Amino acid sequence: MTLDYVNTQNGQLMIGHFTAKQLADRFGTPLYVIDEKYVRNQARLFKDSFTHPILSSEVIYASKAFLTLAMCKLIQEEGLSLDVVSGGELYTAYRANFDMSRVYFHGNNKSEEELRMAVEFNVGTIILDNESELDLLLPLLSQPQKVLLRVNPGIEAHTHEYIATTKNDSKFGLSTADPATLALIERLTREPMIDFSGLHAHIGSQIFEAESFYKEAETLIHFIFDHRIPVRELNLGGGFGVAYMLEDQPIYLSEFLGSLLEHIFLTLNSHSLPNMKIMIEPGRSIVANAGTTLYTVGSTKTTINHKNYVFVDGSMADHIRTVLYGAHYTALLANRVDDICDTKYTVTGKACESGDIIIKEAFLPTCEKGDILAVFSTGAYHYTMSSNYNRLPRPAVIFVHDDHVRIVVKRETYQDLIRNDIGE
Ligand SMILES: Cc1ncc(COP(=O)(O)O)c(C=O)c1O
Repeated sequence: MTLDYVNTQNGQLMIGHFTAKQLADRFGTPLYVIDEKYVRNQARLFKDSFTHPILSSEVIYASKAFLTLAMCKLIQEEGLSLDVVSGGELYTAYRANFDMSRVYFHGNNKSEEELRMAVEFNVGTIILDNESELDLLLPLLSQPQKVLLRVNPGIEAHTHEYIATTKNDSKFGLSTADPATLALIERLTREPMIDFSGLHAHIGSQIFEAESFYKEAETLIHFIFDHRIPVRELNLGGGFGVAYMLEDQPIYLSEFLGSLLEHIFLTLNSHSLPNMKIMIEPGRSIVANAGTTLYTVGSTKTTINHKNYVFVDGSMADHIRTVLYGAHYTALLANRVDDICDTKYTVTGKACESGDIIIKEAFLPTCEKGDILAVFSTGAYHYTMSSNYNRLPRPAVIFVHDDHVRIVVKRETYQDLIRNDIGE
């Protein structure tokens, strides 16, 4: 038994109409494979479910999860908007001809150069994180700029629980409990070159508890009501959890998203507040489960304490979340999926770090040189978090759609690695 989005046939892992082995043979490993159909279906699920008969709504893809030119095009084709957090993400969207009026520019320390770029590109909305960003932005404006303010409602949610706290030490946004936040909102409503449209919050990641989002929305609506804040738009951020492991139970989005909007609608009504546009910013939940990383097994090792390692041709440089967050993953031998998984392995790579662990404990058949190991749910925060540690070239990224496959990011070469070095 494995994750429900994993397809196998005749002992082989299938991605679209291809066996993983075919993809590995053709494109080499390590390889990031994205099932494009899965991404499009997730985008449609969000777009179709996050709707309400009266409230208007918008789904904004959080591009930090996975971004390339091809992904921007896909997101535009599916009718979602785009959240970017840096000049680099903004530039990628621009070069992909993404509709800039649908771009939301985030970040807690935007530089003057990045803000200038956003203004020149006519970015639809800038999400201010603090007052100094406002001071940087104002001199750059020649026409009113729509902005949201990122606030911190004092709710932190992770996986199964949320905590409500007024002691907010997050580096992002301004606390709703801090009087200075209200003073800044007041200023925003008075600045002639600022079109203050509302508030943004993001309460965490990999959230499995629907209650956290209801709580977030209610808290923000109470804040808006208590202080008579003129809000046309309310952006609730992302954070919808996905299944990395069999026991993970994500929120059932197709029911939840509409219910959340209805709850917001009723809460606004009960406070006699006008209807406002509600936005969400899913990243991981659009793309994580669409991604599989394929590695080739190099060798194995059993220590004198009977610990088994399987060495693959990737590393923490293409898979950082295990060492960074202690994240858990599911893996299979893609070319032998029906073989009995009777050996406990630690899956590790080529990087010179003891912490170079891809999966701490994976039950697999006895691995042999040349086997293809597939690690699932690597579509989000993998390619975007990859590095060149140990001068390991980044893997290629391919999109598979049924019987179509295309490279969307070329594999890096050794030449790429020294491209910016000076002094031959
Ligand atoms: C402001 C904001 N919006 C959206 C997201 C996307 O979160 P997720 O990928 O968990 O949906 C993040 C993630 O860090 C974020 O900081």
